[in-house]
Amino acid sequence: MFIILIHSSLCACNNNNNVTELVDRVCEKTSNYTFCVESLYSDNHTPNADPYALAYVAFRLAYRNATGTRDYIAKLLNNASCSSCHYHKILVRCEDDYKEAVSAIEKGYKDLNSQTYLELDYLAGVASDDAEDCHEQGKTSYYYNSMIEFMNKDLKGLCQICVVISKLLA
Ligand SMILES: *[C@@H]1O[C@H](CO)[C@@H](O)[C@H](O)[C@H]1NC(C)=O
Ligand SMILES: *[C@@H]1O[C@H](CO)[C@@H](O)[C@H](O)[C@H]1NC(C)=O
Ligand SMILES: *[C@@H]1O[C@H](CO)[C@@H](O)[C@H](O)[C@H]1NC(C)=O
Repeated sequence: MFIILIHSSLCACNNNNNVTELVDRVCEKTSNYTFCVESLYSDNHTPNADPYALAYVAFRLAYRNATGTRDYIAKLLNNASCSSCHYHKILVRCEDDYKEAVSAIEKGYKDLNSQTYLELDYLAGVASDDAEDCHEQGKTSYYYNSMIEFMNKDLKGLCQICVVISKLLA
């Protein structure tokens, strides 16, 4: 037992010096450690964040991503000339997905504000599933916009961070 304790504390010291122990603990549970650290550290609250503050950072990043993608898709829809085309249908479906994702993340914010964390990880999961649905729609289309694909990946990655932190708070 003693050895395990020493070992795990040594492991904490061996990690990237620039990453807090909390960020390290969160990011090692995600599928892409580098993405997680880079994303969280794009916000200057992260170095001093406790789990609660870090949850805000993660949900804020996810929110910004989801709204940014939703607005981007709306622009593409405005530009799309052929409203009966397959590509147009994909965009409409993706726009619905991203509206739902934004609304799920907004509800997550409310959970955070009220300090009831019961639905946080579920809501982050909903947003992630929306990004996945958009990806599933698009991958069959030759005309599918590669920017959306990157954005789907970003949102899924950010939602995964939200889920891990939500579980810490619960
Ligand atoms: C992990 O994230 C980094 C930084 O965003 C990215 O460059 C890399 O391609 C990602 N790796 C995988 C396997 O997706
Ligand atoms: C979405 O998140 C990724 C990864 O953190 C970031 O590189 C990208 O700029 C974000 N996009 C928006 C619109 O916020
Ligand atoms: C929409 O079309 C305009 C004019 O062709 C173009 O400048 C703009 O980049 C397009 N927007 C998107 C999101 O593709």
